[in-house]
Amino acid sequence: MRFSLFLLYLLAVVNSLVLPLDFAAGRAASHESAVQSQPGFLQLIKEWIAIFSTREVASAIPRGSFESWLQEQEKISFESILQNIGGYGEFAQNVSIGAVIASPSQTRPNYFYQWTRDSALTVMSLVEYLDDHELQDYEFGLCGLVESYIENQYHVQRLANPSGTFEDLTGLGEPKFMANGEAFVDHWGRPQRDGPGLRVITVLGYLSLLTKYEGNFQHEFFTSHDDSFRFVYDEIVKPDLQYIVHHWASPGFDLWEEVNSLHLFTSLTQLKALKLGMTYALAYSDSEFYAVLTTAYNALNFFIQVDSGYKTGNLPFLIETPTLLLTGKRIGLDIASILASLRAHDVDDVGDALDIPFAVDDPVVLNTLTAMVNDMKYRYPINHNRLGFGTGFALGRYPEDVYDGYGTTEGNPWFIATASASELVYKILYKLYKYENDLYIPIGLREFYQPFFEFEIKQDMVVPFGSDEFHMVADGLIKYADSFMDVIREHVDNNGHMSEQFNKYSGFMEGAEDLTWSYSSCWSSMRWRNKVVKLMERS
Ligand code: NOJ
Ligand code: NOJ
Repeated sequence: MRFSLFLLYLLAVVNSLVLPLDFAAGRAASHESAVQSQPGFLQLIKEWIAIFSTREVASAIPRGSFESWLQEQEKISFESILQNIGGYGEFAQNVSIGAVIASPSQTRPNYFYQWTRDSALTVMSLVEYLDDHELQDYEFGLCGLVESYIENQYHVQRLANPSGTFEDLTGLGEPKFMANGEAFVDHWGRPQRDGPGLRVITVLGYLSLLTKYEGNFQHEFFTSHDDSFRFVYDEIVKPDLQYIVHHWASPGFDLWEEVNSLHLFTSLTQLKALKLGMTYALAYSDSEFYAVLTTAYNALNFFIQVDSGYKTGNLPFLIETPTLLLTGKRIGLDIASILASLRAHDVDDVGDALDIPFAVDDPVVLNTLTAMVNDMKYRYPINHNRLGFGTGFALGRYPEDVYDGYGTTEGNPWFIATASASELVYKILYKLYKYENDLYIPIGLREFYQPFFEFEIKQDMVVPFGSDEFHMVADGLIKYADSFMDVIREHVDNNGHMSEQFNKYSGFMEGAEDLTWSYSSCWSSMRWRNKVVKLMERS
């Protein structure tokens, strides 16, 4: 104990010596320049600390074996999401029923709020769990939980707030609310325009699930209406869709709440919401609105693919916020682009990859991962232990990040970012096996695929589904995806708890504790691993 305190002290001293040097130039340092700007001996001390401070104490979770850790962590992650939901969770005292707090942390930092984004994304995990269990869930009462989330959203949507009102829809861009359901009125980066679309995806996800398994709503709030599905569509989904129709072209703050502009994550998830909305408008013979949605969908799709600058001819990776690239403030790389691809595509829907750009196996998405990995393996000293193994690394939000979870010093790796990398690779594998597709490797993906081949990739290649070569690459890919999860295994605490970030020198967790979204993204990645392993075993 005393030894680790000493290490932390040493770390603080080293940090204070080095930080001003790293960021003195006030520029986005590439990894080379970041490394070179530090005097060699400080770099050495940091790496020494990084190696010696990885914890090796007895664990309540089976950290020693990857497979048994996965099993245990999957349960812990799922149950920890529930702990943060009002009316159910232990951590969510004095929280409105169905409200999801981002984290129980009320000071340093205060994340004890309901963010529209975090809530929608994490409740989606509950919907997916229900799907995996064919709506049969006696253990947690998840249908009731999801319904209380939807009911709570109905009320939150209607709250006047600093972004505006429900009447003119502007209030739907408000990013966060108090845990007790009141508006949050302090200064904040608002509006954030991804919330309504993410909520549409989750709410319609639940409606489709009920339809798929011929279930019905349980809560009176819904069953008191003649047609509870139609009520949800008219009163909750439609306003969000209208918001997107009116505001997709207007700037707003990004998902990291820092930059007022247009953003890939926002645009792509909005497009997905419009697509889902069109299906429902059609089913409900809401033809006028269907036409409105179609026009907006086409315009936004065109914007994303042609005018936005999210994909340029000059760079191999996606640009999350093109205006920042243009002003030279950032290089454009951001895990948000990968999150966008993951959340905007349903790999079980064959048509999705045609209707929504940047599918999980689109070369530009994979090259975004490659670029993130190439940057962050050097940027974060904890990754230096893993160099040379041809594996995954701890990833953060974006190279120029300076948010440390409490204030602004230096950016760290995040659980969400690291888990997303593995989810992407699991999903690519899943698609190959599910549709029995040959693996097509354009030469532009050489860097990503080369480690999985014994010979040098020199031109476009097709690896036939089921061939020996195919199995070899698939095996390599799953190991690659696992290696990102293995980073998470190393940095969760001894009870499988996850905060927002882990320190880039020491690996110790920092930022908001028990972050709901960390659990959800980790659980989601493990879910896709289970799905792909099942398919691989069968073939
Ligand atoms: C809090 C935000 O939630 C986080 O995303 C941001 O990086 C910091 N503030 C710093 O601006
Ligand atoms: C900061 C993150 O940047 C943002 O995306 C998130 O919504 C909030 N924290 C709450 O978790």
